[in-house]
Amino acid sequence: HDRRAIRGSYVTFRANPFDGPTQDALVLEEDGLIIMEHGHITHCGAYSALHGLLGDNTPVTHYKDCLISAGFIDAHVHYPQISAIASWGEQLLPWLEQYIFPTEAEFANINVARQTARLFLAELLRNGTTTAAVYCTVHPQSVDAFFEESARLGTRMIAGKVLMDRNCPPDLQDTAQSGYDQSAALIKRWHGRDRQLYAVTPRFAITSTPEQLELAGDLLHGTPGLFMQTHLAENLDEMAAVRSLFPNNTSYLDVYAQAGLDGPRAIFGHAIHMSEHDFAHCHHSGCTLAHCPTSNLFLGSGAFRLFDALNPDRPVHVALGTDIGAGTSLSLLATMGEAYKVSLMAGDTRLSAAQALWLATAGAARALHLHDRIGHIAPGMEADLCVMDPNATPLMAQRNARCTSLSERLFTLMVLGDDRAIRATWVNGKMAYEKNVDPA
Ligand code: GUN
Ligand code: FE
Repeated sequence: HDRRAIRGSYVTFRANPFDGPTQDALVLEEDGLIIMEHGHITHCGAYSALHGLLGDNTPVTHYKDCLISAGFIDAHVHYPQISAIASWGEQLLPWLEQYIFPTEAEFANINVARQTARLFLAELLRNGTTTAAVYCTVHPQSVDAFFEESARLGTRMIAGKVLMDRNCPPDLQDTAQSGYDQSAALIKRWHGRDRQLYAVTPRFAITSTPEQLELAGDLLHGTPGLFMQTHLAENLDEMAAVRSLFPNNTSYLDVYAQAGLDGPRAIFGHAIHMSEHDFAHCHHSGCTLAHCPTSNLFLGSGAFRLFDALNPDRPVHVALGTDIGAGTSLSLLATMGEAYKVSLMAGDTRLSAAQALWLATAGAARALHLHDRIGHIAPGMEADLCVMDPNATPLMAQRNARCTSLSERLFTLMVLGDDRAIRATWVNGKMAYEKNVDPA
């Protein structure tokens, strides 16, 4: 019998906190019960109202003094780059050449891919992340290794083979045709199998010929429900290179749009150097921007204009990305904290704790058109949950003791918290990670 339950405080959303006051958007159940069966949430609400449904043999895990949320969603991350994190001294283009391409070349070896996929997915769970949009390498076996491990864990993941047919080392290069054929085979093998979803993944405009981008568009439109992920307008030297490689396009975004790579379920990483016209295009075509604050700080790329992107006259979907290896943490809590700081750097609107949590959960699910499956705690949703401990460190406990509201508690978690604040992670209705609690 597959029925399990969690008792504790949980927080979820009934509305978008960018549209109105926090108290209208957030739902807090102080003593809640979440009942799960066959990977889905069947009931949730007050423990006092629901405990009668448990019967005699439903195991209940009680997380006292913790705060439970929907599992975190990372909208932009590179699994092969975990071993290149913290590479010193360069901005985007020389950083790719010096550190990233050599690291990704190691994935020709399937054993490197398998080992790294195992470590990476374990790290995601240790950080409370249950869904991610993941770049593999140009090697098709890097995608098999990733999805095999994700299927074993039961996680809902989005991933794809990097397409790269120019301006990169020869051992990392595909061709427009081989990239198409390999992607088509991977789509057939993985897309929609268990909880796995495929993303057509041209790395960025610099490393793909117009022919490759065209064929990527054909792939994307050839199978329903596919995702597309790439990088957009991250760095000024990159912008200049794109202008010279694509002199006839009106903007960087236009290079992708002309190939049919925009639209719902298209995820563009970074999008820092954007015109008003670009944002309006994203709004009308329904694409998603992945805001990667730790990466943008680490590579000195610039400050994403979050509230400009979300302008209510033409709001663009935004989610958060860790962008490991340019990012410096796999923790969405840490990424929310950095997004707050970048929001102050970029303009005059301050990101609230509820808004940050929305971007990491329900808002990301909405942006990715997965909101009927993940991102909320509600009956019928897939049971992916993250259990946070606001007293995980002495400093957090000291600060948390003074918190008088949910917003303050969440803000403390995102400014001070990281993997240490993740008490447990549940995937598909089962506990998938539990923190070693120090013996008293
Ligand atoms: N642009 C093209 N490739 C990459 C990458 O691997 N990381 C980042 N941050 N930007 C990119
Ligand atoms: Fe990236």
